[in-house]
Amino acid sequence: MTKPLKKAVLPVAGLGTRFLPATKAMPKEMLPVVDKPLIQYAIDEARAAGIEEFCLITGRGKDSLIDYFDVAFELEVTLRERNKKDCLEALAPSSIEAGSLAAVRQQEPLGLGHAIWCARSFIGDDPFAIILPDDLVRADRPCIGQLIEAYNQTGGSVVAVEEVPREHTNRYGVLNPGKDDGKMVEIRGLVEKPKPEDAPSNLSIIGRYVLTADVMKHLSKLEKGAGGEVQLTDAMAKMVGEIPFHGLRYEGRRFDCGNKIGFLEAQIAFALDRPDLADDVRGFLKNYTGAV
Ligand code: G1P
Repeated sequence: MTKPLKKAVLPVAGLGTRFLPATKAMPKEMLPVVDKPLIQYAIDEARAAGIEEFCLITGRGKDSLIDYFDVAFELEVTLRERNKKDCLEALAPSSIEAGSLAAVRQQEPLGLGHAIWCARSFIGDDPFAIILPDDLVRADRPCIGQLIEAYNQTGGSVVAVEEVPREHTNRYGVLNPGKDDGKMVEIRGLVEKPKPEDAPSNLSIIGRYVLTADVMKHLSKLEKGAGGEVQLTDAMAKMVGEIPFHGLRYEGRRFDCGNKIGFLEAQIAFALDRPDLADDVRGFLKNYTGAV
């Protein structure tokens, strides 16, 4: 029996430079897709997969993310007085049970591996999920839930993977694949951001992971890798052979909301999913696409 997975770490310390000036005074994870901030999508996905405890790895200028999950006392009183039930309902997912949200400051931007290592006290010996809120996944079943299912089957670590164009391997952690049944791929090795000509495959990790706490012992060495940063991929590579380790071709579609095109596409895709917006969006898209 595997230990139940109840914890998620959400790294949110990044500067969001690709969205300046929007992110000058606001965390990029607060940027909305339609009407919900990216961080809310990440929490909703985790909750839908049974996760109950959350740890945000923040940095300077990111405190509004913690405020976001606090009680908005005056606002809620006013809405109640005015009997605005729909607004109160819209607010509900942004409240988190007392004691279920922890936040740790990553004082220096030393890499994703270092950010995860900052959560070591929160994790202890427990298995945990990692959700990178920039990677927004639209799926019938929550992507992180699909990984948890695979973790329950294999008893080891699992990362979400997809095939990317070969010329993009230098943006991702890339698998050296072993046995592959078309869905689950055994991981023989992992390389962070290899050049296309050096990449062992084009199967790349997207921002969803389920890891056993063993990864912390490798992270604690704080060895620098690609880009001079402490890389999560390098620490995971050291787990190969120690525990079962697989890539899961998840069902769903990822939008890279860390870049402008991915973010804009996500707006359209998520708006088209909304019964209250879909017809209008379809209508104006027709106008624009007809005109260009
Ligand atoms: C990080 C990881 C990389 C992973 C990617 C997924 O890179 O280091 O292995 O493939 O997230 O989005 P970043 O996007 O932070 O450069």
